[in-house]
Amino acid sequence: MNRERDYVLGTHDEEIERLGLQHRVWRPRALEAWRNAGFTTGQTIADIGCGPGYASIDLAEIAGPNGRVVAIDRSRRFLDALESSAAQRGLHNIDVFEADLDEDALPELKVDGLWVRWVFAFMKHPQELLAKVIRLLKPGGTIVIHEYFDYATWGFAPRSEVFETFVTAVMKSWREGGGEPDIGLMLPQWLGEYGLKIHSVRPIVDVITPRSFVWQWPKTFVAVGVNRLVDIGRITADEARAIHDAFAERERAAHTLMITPAVLEIIARAE
Ligand SMILES: C[S@@+](CC[C@H](N)C(=O)[O-])C[C@H]1O[C@@H](n2cnc3c(N)ncnc32)[C@H](O)[C@@H]1O
Repeated sequence: MNRERDYVLGTHDEEIERLGLQHRVWRPRALEAWRNAGFTTGQTIADIGCGPGYASIDLAEIAGPNGRVVAIDRSRRFLDALESSAAQRGLHNIDVFEADLDEDALPELKVDGLWVRWVFAFMKHPQELLAKVIRLLKPGGTIVIHEYFDYATWGFAPRSEVFETFVTAVMKSWREGGGEPDIGLMLPQWLGEYGLKIHSVRPIVDVITPRSFVWQWPKTFVAVGVNRLVDIGRITADEARAIHDAFAERERAAHTLMITPAVLEIIARAE
C-alpha cells in the first residue's frame, strides 16, 4: 500500500537530495537564528514540517542527549529518510510524528523551541497552523521562522524574462495548491495577535555570482523544479527547455548576478 502523501514540490529522491543541498547552503543562517533564539542543550525543540530532517539532525546535536527533537511532517518517505540518517549518526533523541499540519491535531507537547522553515507557504490554513504550534510553546519558549515574503525578487541582473516566467509559474502552482509563497508578510501580525513578542525580524536576500556556494541552492531548485512543473502539467516540455537554457546561458555569461527569493527571519517569544 502506498501511504505516501505528496505535496506541490514532491517527495521523490531527487527532492530529498535537493533539500539536503538547500540545508547545507542555509545551515549557517539557521545556526545563527537558533543561537539568537537561545536554543541550547537539554531543550525540547519541535521541527514543524521537517522534511527529510536535515535541520532536525542539527537541532538534535544542539539539544544533546538530555534534550529532544520532535520532527513532524506528512511525508512518510521524508520521515523514513530522517530516521535512517539519525540511526546512522547514532542520534537517539529524535522522535518523528506523521501528521497533516493542515488537518490533524498535533501531539501534546510542551516545547522550549519551535523551528518552522518553508512550511507555512504550503498550508491551506497557515493561521490555524500558527495557532496550533504556538500552543505547544512553554512560557518563555521561542519560535524561529524562515519563510518567503517576496518570492518574486528571484531573478537575474540584468533581467531574464524567460526566467521570470518560471518564477511566476512556481508561485502560481503553490497558490493553486492552496498555499501562499509570500506568507512571511502575514506572520508577524498573527504572532502579535496571538500574544507573542517579536524578538527580531530581518530580511535575507543574497545577490550572488555563479562562483558562490549559495548559487547551488537556486540552481538545484531549477534543475528539479522545472521538471516537476512539467510532471504536474503546469508548463510544457518546450517551456521547460527554454527555462533550462536561459538559466545555463546566464550561468555562463560574464558578470552575471542572481538575486535570491526574499526570506523573512522571525524570532518571537511566548510571554
Ligand atoms: C520545502 S519543504 C521544507 C522542509 C524543511 N522544513 C526544510 O527546511 O528543509 C516543505 C515541507 O512541508 C511538508 N508539508 C507540506 N504540506 C504539508 C502538510 N499539509 N502537512 C504536513 N507537512 C506538509 C512537506 O512534506 C515538506 O517536508
